[in-house]
Amino acid sequence: MRHSVALAFAVPCLLLGALASFGRADDMVDQREQAFRTEAEQAFVLDQMRLLLSSITEIEEGLGTGDLNLVAREAAARGRKANITLARPPSLAAKESDAWKAMFLSVRNGFDAVADQAQAHAPAATISKTLADTMRNCVACHQTYRIAVEPR
Ligand code: HEC
Repeated sequence: MRHSVALAFAVPCLLLGALASFGRADDMVDQREQAFRTEAEQAFVLDQMRLLLSSITEIEEGLGTGDLNLVAREAAARGRKANITLARPPSLAAKESDAWKAMFLSVRNGFDAVADQAQAHAPAATISKTLADTMRNCVACHQTYRIAVEPR
């Protein structure tokens, strides 16, 4: 009995909630700043992004299983030191705002810090915290920019 009363209350609430969120989803406006890039530049940037995500997955795998060598390897691969010589589309640097560059540099330096900590066998909690601090830059940049492909 008590269940059916709860259900009688919960079901309309869920339906109303669903309707309200449909309305909001329809009205959603993308307010992020457009970062204009050519199609090739966009492909390059997004490829780098996917590498970041994939390394974070392996870093978490290493932290969860106690494989700090994996953590160090994956983090170092995404760090600044390993990417100084990365071949980038030459037109890209001039298009990146100072804020963009600063957030990306913080990401690269953050991965180097994670690699250093893993090599020094720091506790997993310490390394996780460094990764979280690093990822605040992913979040901040994603909230600020989206890529818009330049008309040719
Ligand atoms: C300096 C800015 C910046 C930073 C820092 C940044 N990103 Fe991105 N990322 C972007 C932009 C811009 C896009 C494209 C978003 C759009 O156009 O809607 C993107 C897209 C992505 C995508 C989607 C890739 C695809 O194939 O579509 C992934 C995954 C991603 N980022 C992961 C990350 C991770 C993980 C980090 C941090 C470790 C990170 N990014 C840091 C700017 C950034």
